[in-house]
Amino acid sequence: MTTISSSGSSSGASGSTSGSALKQEIERYAAANPKSAAMHERAKESLPGGDSRNSIWWKPFPIYVARGDGSMMTDLDGNERVDFISNMTTLILGHRHPDVIKAVEAQVDRGLSYPAPSELVVEWAELIVGRVPSVEKVRFVNSGTEATLNAIRAARAFTGRQKIVKCEGGYHGAHDDVAVSVDPGFDKAGDELAPESVRDYEGVPDKSLDHTIVIPYNNPAAAEAIIRANGSEVAAVIVEPVIGRLGMLPAQPEFLQALRDVTRELGIVLIFDEVISLRISPGGSQEYFGITPDMTAMGKIIGGGLPVGAFGGKSEIMALFDPDSEAGPRVKHAGTFNGNPMTAAAGIATLRNMTPELYDQIAELGEDLRSKLRNVIAEREAPMGVTGIASLFSLQFTTVQIVDYRSLESADKTLAAHMFIGMLNEGFALSTQCAGNISAVITPEQVDGFVAAFSSVLERAGYG
Ligand SMILES: Cc1ncc(COP(=O)(O)O)c(C=O)c1O
Repeated sequence: MTTISSSGSSSGASGSTSGSALKQEIERYAAANPKSAAMHERAKESLPGGDSRNSIWWKPFPIYVARGDGSMMTDLDGNERVDFISNMTTLILGHRHPDVIKAVEAQVDRGLSYPAPSELVVEWAELIVGRVPSVEKVRFVNSGTEATLNAIRAARAFTGRQKIVKCEGGYHGAHDDVAVSVDPGFDKAGDELAPESVRDYEGVPDKSLDHTIVIPYNNPAAAEAIIRANGSEVAAVIVEPVIGRLGMLPAQPEFLQALRDVTRELGIVLIFDEVISLRISPGGSQEYFGITPDMTAMGKIIGGGLPVGAFGGKSEIMALFDPDSEAGPRVKHAGTFNGNPMTAAAGIATLRNMTPELYDQIAELGEDLRSKLRNVIAEREAPMGVTGIASLFSLQFTTVQIVDYRSLESADKTLAAHMFIGMLNEGFALSTQCAGNISAVITPEQVDGFVAAFSSVLERAGYG
């Protein structure tokens, strides 16, 4: 097995990235990954574009992973890369943590799934209820998508209202009412203080555009005005306290507080989407910010690497799902694999390992990484920035300070593509947006290696 190393050659175009530098980077990538390229050709025969998950598809072809172990991933060509994205922030203990593997293996011996609950689901629920301040009762699903969908449905049933409010640039999974203004064209997005509701892709029904009202992130006055104007029709405001697609950007506390205050006043259910941000402290970002929503959507880390989602909140809202009444549940909710024992076993082992000290440790390493990256950006005078909080970070390809979706308008997409492929060439895996995370198995030496690789890629992109 080999680690792809940098030749350190410069594109020669000093002070700006260029299409030809990116082309060279891609040629190098293609040369180092022939088996992944061939597998991608095969994949195209049975999967559209060779793909089943847009977030892990990229040009000219993705790497195909053969193995993950600790902090490392090995692809079909035998290239090893340090995994700085951990299945989109999921694997907080890294790949194949011994306790997680032990728990999963023990469950394999007892059966993969049952047509009745197990003790594990109760233990898992107790762990989450014990940690996440807003969650008095919880229900399990199999994805973050289902978590936000069910939290929104509960809010509609609870309030008797239809509309929801979400932030421009916020991603809450792949269902219709939230597939609105996640990534709208800047020419279609309308007034930045009163954004248009823009369909994210074909197939999203017109009713979702009518039902979903969009507010700007981090603008308390504009958000409050929009919510008040629609108040009596709004069932829920859903928000990521750390917004993934804007670069793991923490909200300004006054924005979250304004949402908390206005929703409480108007009888609207406030939903925190903590599918990513639950990894910033044992009680998630709601504990970090000291602001408690009515409902919380969760996913990723709570399943220890297996498919998962969960939603929970105030007992009076979660009572909607209680089947233990004569009329049955007011909101029905089934799912063949909800709370399945395999995911529960992996989730319990992961959460038990995640002590407050470990959250602090990965947060400190995250802070160290962000500050070292900023130093390199300053030294090389690259038109970039770094955002993030705790163990989460993202590279930004603009010098504009990121506060909301519109701040991304000036981002340099060529440099972003160069950085993503360049870091793969250097032996480091990120998301295609160049977001990443520290997991518990990442070492300070790997952080320094990441920073050195980042510097080399910038040099090849022309910032020498
Ligand atoms: C904030 C947020 N909410 C919801 C989801 C959807 O989760 P899943 O991909 O498990 O459906 C994601 C996925 O990345 C997410 O980042």
